Amino acid sequence: MPAYDVLAVGSYSVDMIFTGLPSLPKLGHEVIGSGFTMIPGEAYTSVAAMHRLGIKIAWAADFGSDDFSQFALNCGRQEKLDERFFVHHNRPLRRVSVAASYPQDRFFITYYDPDPPVPAALKALALASARLLFIPGLFHGPMLEAGLKLMRLKGMQLVMDGNSGGEDETTNRIRLDVPSVRSAVENCRIFLPNALEARRLTGEQNLLKAIEILGELCPLVVVKDGPNGSYAFQSGAVFHEPAITIQPLDTTGAGDCFNAGFLRAWLDGKDLPACLRWGNISGGLSTLAHGGPGRKVTVADIENRLVEYENRSN
Ligand SMILES: Nc1ncnc2c1ncn2[C@@H]1O[C@H](COP(=O)(O)OP(=O)(O)OP(=O)(O)O)[C@@H](O)[C@H]1O
Ligand SMILES: [Mg+2]
Repeated sequence: MPAYDVLAVGSYSVDMIFTGLPSLPKLGHEVIGSGFTMIPGEAYTSVAAMHRLGIKIAWAADFGSDDFSQFALNCGRQEKLDERFFVHHNRPLRRVSVAASYPQDRFFITYYDPDPPVPAALKALALASARLLFIPGLFHGPMLEAGLKLMRLKGMQLVMDGNSGGEDETTNRIRLDVPSVRSAVENCRIFLPNALEARRLTGEQNLLKAIEILGELCPLVVVKDGPNGSYAFQSGAVFHEPAITIQPLDTTGAGDCFNAGFLRAWLDGKDLPACLRWGNISGGLSTLAHGGPGRKVTVADIENRLVEYENRSN
């Protein structure tokens, strides 16, 4: 069994993205777009981005007998992802999202079949060996606690993105005063929320204060702030690196691609400002195509854009 850099857990989705829509949809009317992309999303985005940057990654994922699962699976095969921890189910496991994308924002209609009672993640945790366990969203509760016991036995460390959906009643309850949420953050070696998630979790609107509060719970907090770049907080010190200059086409999945760049640099032992730059470039370049994994970003692409930072500091 090979030792991986990262074991990633989390489900695929298939995103159907409609662009060039002349107006917002209204009941009883048809809106015809001028562009359409179908592409895998959710956990697939970070997994593909890490794989493209040469991180040795295993993905524990469930796929069903349906066309959406098969589509995501085929994309993963073209990408040459490691399939050792894929679990195939003899029933549909449809996870599909339709996105109407407008220049300023987008909305989604989503459907998920019920998850399998025992997710692929638990099986993989028992078998795999990796430096990091990566969860692409804020996952908390008894299933996490069970997984963490296995993770510690294997000597892995937890890295968690703060992804927790949009503004609604459920996500507004994802706050540090909920014991299971607090415990999830406390168990992270690296926690990577975006600015909205950092503010919502802490109830603190001042971003630097929110980062400090999170930094009291977790040794390395990394906060993504869209066109403002990103922050890291470690041992009482805060670092900031600006975003690259780019004309984004679609920012879906930029945070997930940021994670890949940041982790590649961190696994290589680079310092935190360098890790933030790698994340910013990986996230920034991903916005040049529709969907999270639409634009392939390689180590050479990142190295080419690092010059931009060197020129700024001269
Ligand atoms: N408009 C932009 N211009 C330049 N860089 C950007 C832009 N938007 C995002 N980025 C880069 O990508 C990183 C992650 O983006 P963002 O803060 O939007 O993450 P996110 O909200 O977690 O995204 P998602 O959850 O949709 O993947 C940013 O820190 C920045 O470096
Ligand atoms: Mg995010």
